[in-house]
Amino acid sequence: MINLSLKRVTSVWIIAILVVFVITAIFGITMRFNQGGDIELSPVTFFSLMTAHGVTMVGIWSVAGMMAVNYLMARYVKVSTAVNVFALVLTVIGLVMLWTSTFVGYFHAGWTFLYPLPFFVAWESWATPLFLYSIAIFGIGWTVWTVAMLMQIYKKYSLAQSFAWQHFKRGYLVETPPFILITTVSLIGILICLITAVILLVLLFAEYYSNGTFTNDALLIKNLTYFFGHTIINEALYLGVATLYELFPEVSGRPKFKTTWYVALAWNCTLVFVLTAFFHHLYMDFVQPVGLQLVGQFASYFASLPSAAVTVFSIVILVYKNPIKWSLTNTLFFIGVIGWIIGGFGAVIDATISNNFVLHNTLWVPAHFHTYNAMGNVLFSLAFFYWVANEFAGTKVVPRSEKLRIGLLLIGGFGFVLMFYIAGAYSIPRRYSVYPDELALGRNLASYGGWFATIYVIAILLFLGEIVNKCLKVFSPRSSAAA
Ligand code: HEM
Repeated sequence: MINLSLKRVTSVWIIAILVVFVITAIFGITMRFNQGGDIELSPVTFFSLMTAHGVTMVGIWSVAGMMAVNYLMARYVKVSTAVNVFALVLTVIGLVMLWTSTFVGYFHAGWTFLYPLPFFVAWESWATPLFLYSIAIFGIGWTVWTVAMLMQIYKKYSLAQSFAWQHFKRGYLVETPPFILITTVSLIGILICLITAVILLVLLFAEYYSNGTFTNDALLIKNLTYFFGHTIINEALYLGVATLYELFPEVSGRPKFKTTWYVALAWNCTLVFVLTAFFHHLYMDFVQPVGLQLVGQFASYFASLPSAAVTVFSIVILVYKNPIKWSLTNTLFFIGVIGWIIGGFGAVIDATISNNFVLHNTLWVPAHFHTYNAMGNVLFSLAFFYWVANEFAGTKVVPRSEKLRIGLLLIGGFGFVLMFYIAGAYSIPRRYSVYPDELALGRNLASYGGWFATIYVIAILLFLGEIVNKCLKVFSPRSSAAA
């Protein structure tokens, strides 16, 4: 059941995520303008910004998905507000530690903190352990929350039912809603990532505190790091897809989506392939067995194809020649699916080994992941935020500035990622603070990218004002009296 305390904690999450998002997006715009030569930052400041930007973005959009499914899960099973608050408090503590390590301690090893970089201390010596502890704090909060949500699902659905296996046979008695299926698949994936992060941190701390008596295996650490980092942000997107399955038909005035055998099959396949796609980050590690590189290529194809195909199919069937009540919520979901598909297509191009020889570590990489994050996952969450804020405020009014906001979001968002794609196609490398004269094209594109991103953030600010206002309504005395 959705009670007032769940509404309140959800409101706090939404306001915090949106505010932190705008600040962190400004870090990104600052980086783009520095790459464009419009402003001048020291390399240390640039890479500190890049590290804080990367970890914070991945973190907030992972918890945004968890918070949204936690809220909607209350329609089917009991959820714990105490665990939700616990995860929120630990996320805030983790964020303060993270930003202290990057902005006070100048830790700047990138969001992947790829081994052995964290141990080549080019910053305050305390910043390395503080950064690693911040990841541990996030990990504790999110692991407890993920386990709590899964346990609630298993109180109502058996393991087989949570994966919708009964839908492969005829005459089943219990129907698994697509929302429960996709949430289970994604939460299990997230849990596996978080367990991997524990192993990774234990190994890194073991070396840090060993006084030189223990050294890690670089390839093992790279595998663990990418398994954790690459997979968690992918799973976060699927949590957004779960909210889409739950809300898109409802807000469009159409019947609910049903789990069919092919929906069940697609999401079961997604669980396996998302967990094995990360090998595409190791194509240039030639000591890695060739078989694993092939697993990386084919898992990358199959990780996105089944889930995207059934989602697009379901949405096309729902929208095609049917009367749809369009609102900001389903418009944002719809554009989000387009961003997901374009970004996924960009990822599949890069994950093809022969292409990766050309595109590896170019701006094509931030191009594809920013497309399915900034124009996919963020929009799925924004759709949920907008819907739930209207629920809190008890309004369904569509404000007049809708076209303006959507227009700015489309121009700003797709313009911003297009600059990355063009630069990637011209082999401009990623993670350069400033581009040398030989890469002057990168400079111009970065500057244009910064301006497009500014338009995108203006659109987000226009959403933020309205959403925050409506979210605050759950703290009014009238809400307490009604509860
Ligand atoms: C207006 C929005 C955003 C702007 C302007 C922006 C800008 C940037 C820039 C300039 C970089 C460095 C690219 C390079 O040269 O390699 C970057 C990296 C990154 N961004 Fe964003 N970004 C935005 C939104 C997002 C979102 C929504 C996510 C969500 C996950 C995200 C995640 C990342 C990650 C993980 C990195 C890699 C950091 C690293 O290499 O250590 N960004 N971003």
